[in-house]
This record gives sequence, C-alpha cells and structure tokens, in this order.
Amino acid sequence: MKENLSINLKNTSKFISDEEIIANAQLSVRHLDTLNAGTGPGNDFLGWLSLPDDILPQIERIEKTALHLRSVSDTTVVIGIGGSYLGSRAVIEALSHSFSSLLTGKHHDMIFAGQNISEDYLAELLELLDGRNYSIVVISKSGTTTEPAIAFRILKDHLEKRVGKTEAAKRIIAITDAKKGALRSLADSNGYETFIIPDNIGGRYSVLTPVGLLPIAICGLDIRLLVKGAKSMEELTRLNKHAETNPSLLYASARNLLLQNGKPIEIMVGFNPKLHFFSEWWKQLYGESEGKDGKGIFPASVDLTTDLHSMGQYIQDGQRILFETIISVKNPSKKLSIPLEKNDSDQLNYLAGKRLTEVNYNAELGTTLAHNDGNVPIITLTIPSLDEYYVGQLIYFFEMACAISGYILDVNPFDQPGVEAYKKNMFALLNKPGFEEEGKKLKKRL
Ligand code: PA5
Repeated sequence: MKENLSINLKNTSKFISDEEIIANAQLSVRHLDTLNAGTGPGNDFLGWLSLPDDILPQIERIEKTALHLRSVSDTTVVIGIGGSYLGSRAVIEALSHSFSSLLTGKHHDMIFAGQNISEDYLAELLELLDGRNYSIVVISKSGTTTEPAIAFRILKDHLEKRVGKTEAAKRIIAITDAKKGALRSLADSNGYETFIIPDNIGGRYSVLTPVGLLPIAICGLDIRLLVKGAKSMEELTRLNKHAETNPSLLYASARNLLLQNGKPIEIMVGFNPKLHFFSEWWKQLYGESEGKDGKGIFPASVDLTTDLHSMGQYIQDGQRILFETIISVKNPSKKLSIPLEKNDSDQLNYLAGKRLTEVNYNAELGTTLAHNDGNVPIITLTIPSLDEYYVGQLIYFFEMACAISGYILDVNPFDQPGVEAYKKNMFALLNKPGFEEEGKKLKKRL
C-alpha cells in the first residue's frame, strides 16, 4: 500500500495541546457529516466532494483534446483568473521541469494570460506569439469575467489573423458554463470544442474538473494519477469519521485553535520553489473561502530558504501573530551531490558528498526549531514525493480541510461576495452601460 500524506502537530504544542486538537477535531466530525449530507451553507456547491469519481468518464476526452492541441501547436495559452487559473498553474509548476520554458526539444510550452489587465503583459505576449504556433484554452465559469474576456478578445483576434478563422476555431477550446455567459455564446457561435464547469463546483474547487485537468494534460502530466491521489485522500478524509486519523479534520482543528490563541495569520511554507504556485492556489482557496463576515485566518506564503533572507527576520522576531504550515517533500525526483574540492577554499568540504536534499532538509529542521523557539507554531505536512499522486492528495486534503474550517468559523466556504466590490467600481469608473450614475458618484470621491 502507498504511503499517505502525513500531518505532524508536535511543533504547535507550546500553544495548543494534542488533547485540545483531537477534541476539536472530534467536534468537527459534525461538519464532515453536514458536508456529506449537503445540509450546510453553500450546499449547492458541493460537487467537488465526489469529483475523484465523477470526473473519470471525462478523462479520455480531456486526454484526446490535450493530444490534439499538442499535435497542432507548440504552445498553449491558457486564459483564466482566480479559480480558473491557479489550480492548473499550481500543478503544472509543481510537476514540470524548473526551466521547461527554456528547454529546447520535444516539448510543449504553456503560457498563462487573462490573470491581469497589464498592457505590457499582453502586448509582450503578442510579440512572443508572433513567432509561435499556438492554441488557446479559455476558461471562465461565468463567461463574463473582465480580465480573461479582454485577453481572449485580443488573443482570438491575433490567432484568427495568423491562421484564419476556421483553423483558429479548431485551436480554441472553451471551458465554461453549460448554458450561461458570453463565453458560452461565443463558443457555440464559433463552433469551439467546449468542456463544462458544473453548476455545483465553484472556481477555487475546480482543479479536478477540465478547468485544471485539460491544461495539466496538455503539459504531458498524468491526470489519471492526480485523480487517483485525490481519490485516496477522499477515502482518508471525507469517509473517515475517526478524527485522530483524518488529516483534514486535524489540520482544520489545529489552525482554528491557533486562531483562537492569537495567531490570525497562516504562512504556507515550501522548501522547493516548484511549490510557489501551489501556495498561491492555497491562498485563494483559504482566503476566498474563509475571509468573510469579519472572520478568517489570513493566508500568506513564503518560499524557503529564499525568503529566509527577506521575510525570515519578521517570522522569527516580529509581531507574534503568525503560525506556519510547512509542505515537506521527503524525496526529490533528481539527484545532485556537493563535490569535494581539494583546497576547500570556500570551506564547504564539510558538505562534500552530501545530497542537496539533505542540506535542504536540515535547513527545514533548523528553521522549524528556530521559528518554534521564536514562538511560531508549526504544522508540518509531509508527502513522500512531488508527483501527480501526492499533489492529488494535497489538493483534496486542503479542499476538505478548507470546507471543514469554514464551517468551524461559521461562514459559507463556497461563496465570494466580497470579490464583487472592486468589479462594480471598475465598471462604474469605465462607464459600463448601466453603471453610469454610480460612476459619477465615484469620480467625485477621487
Ligand atoms: O473561486 C472563484 O470562484 C473565483 O476565483 C473565480 O474562479 C474567478 O473569479 C474567475 O471566475 P470565472 O471563472 O467566472 O471567470
């Protein structure tokens, strides 16, 4: 049997006891029951719970479409924002070669767009695409989000001019709602191949739908193994009422106890730069799910050891309002040791022959001890290796813990009403039809 993700709460013990964590986790089994019964807030957004099974019938078509795009182009631009972007980017960056975009040879480039409104970004992307043979995957559940809609209008126009309307239509895949939204109408009228984002799955819980799986498959990663990993975590969390052995219950319980003990900020820590976008995905998942009604733990992240030389001072010694969650990867996929040097002029011979992983792991242990001495509680999540199976486990683990945690906080973890505020103002300031009066009022305030 394969090893599972494990959770170590030992380094929270100065602040919260094992007994408290387990008691809180046992109490939270009722939230698990509520999720499974579908009787809690946001219960029309619970489709993600059974995705590891429900997505299986679509895997073959996703793989076929990925192969088609790889065969007609050398680059895919994935357009989307928030939950329609971060999940695929997190998995792709975690599992791809660190320098994939610079590698030459048989390899498909993935570029993301529609996650900002920067003129520089899109203009420079067009400059790059002038010399590329590319395809587009455009993702928007609502089909009306401004950032991806602008990027799609510009890139569609560029692609149609490059290859003609008919060929462009064969290279554009739209992932959107079954019926609603401007993207749905565009896709239908232009004859694009489409995948559907089900009504009952919110953007930030959609990585195991075509939203995440198609871009991941285009990069040549094994989406079946990713889903298999998620399924194994579903068995360990959704279907496990035994609090002591349910890592999602334990994590949700510990972080909420830490919040109650004066730690309102959680920092996600990775010791492998490939995890940078995984932390970005996690920040959206937790920030949008919990941050409402004046509640929630503020999600932040650092990449170590890099950020020990920028954020390390604050974490060690600043306001004592933080706790950390480390994602620890036991075995790297590559091997590299430090060579011996005859005259030891850089005084590194004490490390000669050691794998970089050993040095990095000791940095992780040293940091854990130091931060704990500095009164930062630390939760450590360990996965045996960074591969599709364990990234799948991490995804389901965090989604389940997030839902439970939202219910512990007594918020709806599946909506995001606060995201609308900036949109309304932007539309009013840009004189979008229907927003003119509001625009006049806002302009007076500037
Ligand atoms: O999690 C969410 O629901 C949001 O982050 C959305 O994914 C994001 O706003 C993009 O929305 P859409 O997919 O409708 O373009």
